[in-house]
Amino acid sequence: MKKKAILLAGGAGTRLYPITKIVCKQLLPVYDKPMICYPLATLMLGGLREVLIISTPKDLPMLRDYLGDGAHLGIRIEYAEQAKPDGIAQAFLIGAKFIGDSGASLILGDNIFYGKLDFYREALALDHGACVFGYQVRDPERYGVVEFDATGKAISLEEKPEKPKSHFAVPGLYVYDGQVVDLCRTLRPSARGELEITDLNLLYLKRKELHVKLLSRGMAWLDTGTQTSLLEAGNYIATIEHRQGLKVACLEEAAFRMGFIKQTDLNAIIDRLPKGEYRDYLRMVCDEGPATG
Ligand code: G1P
Repeated sequence: MKKKAILLAGGAGTRLYPITKIVCKQLLPVYDKPMICYPLATLMLGGLREVLIISTPKDLPMLRDYLGDGAHLGIRIEYAEQAKPDGIAQAFLIGAKFIGDSGASLILGDNIFYGKLDFYREALALDHGACVFGYQVRDPERYGVVEFDATGKAISLEEKPEKPKSHFAVPGLYVYDGQVVDLCRTLRPSARGELEITDLNLLYLKRKELHVKLLSRGMAWLDTGTQTSLLEAGNYIATIEHRQGLKVACLEEAAFRMGFIKQTDLNAIIDRLPKGEYRDYLRMVCDEGPATG
């Protein structure tokens, strides 16, 4: 069982300019909470409590202000800088000391997953190799793309191919074993000058140590990389939350339901919150107790 995770909140958010001119992309609202809450909640609901957040020198202080050391959520958050956008796989070189030799999961700060997370928990429980996922999308050329043979075995991976060999994109959630740092050290920058996560996954594929699990249609994997997809993601979350009266990716709730914090801890958090809808929601969660939901 992997215990550690890296949350990579990098990039200049150029496609979202001008809203990212001052504000860090991962702190932009996705409906009623900052974007970073969604990937962080995914890690927490996967049972992970040791997280390294990697971001740019400009954005890191803001993220640290927002999440602190994670103690209030019953988790431990460390921070590290990625000085330049040199690629997703560089996160493992930056986080080498944090990871040690125990392997780690990686999630991208702009990826939102909604649905049953069994697929992730199963991946975290794997002893050996790496695990990535496949999710059917209309526009696979925007992503890493995985191709399968007739038996369902993954046979190729390509980063943003002009002519995708399938409709299955690889979401920004990955699980790696203890070889990950050493394998990253062998990577060389791609044509666009980045250490590509797809190249790392290809190393595992060549070694026959890459598991690829398809996410079911019932899962939502949402993208927030463009103005339109950010708005659509916000509308999706709003729709679900209004329908159920439950929040998606409410970090304090996730901490409480996972047993990372106690009812008294949650009460203390609520007392410090400004009056409003978020506080009222947490009051309801707290009064219900941890067992529900
Ligand atoms: C990155 C990865 C790509 C993956 C995507 C998921 O793309 O390089 O393989 O499918 O995240 O969000 P980028 O965010 O650099 O466009």
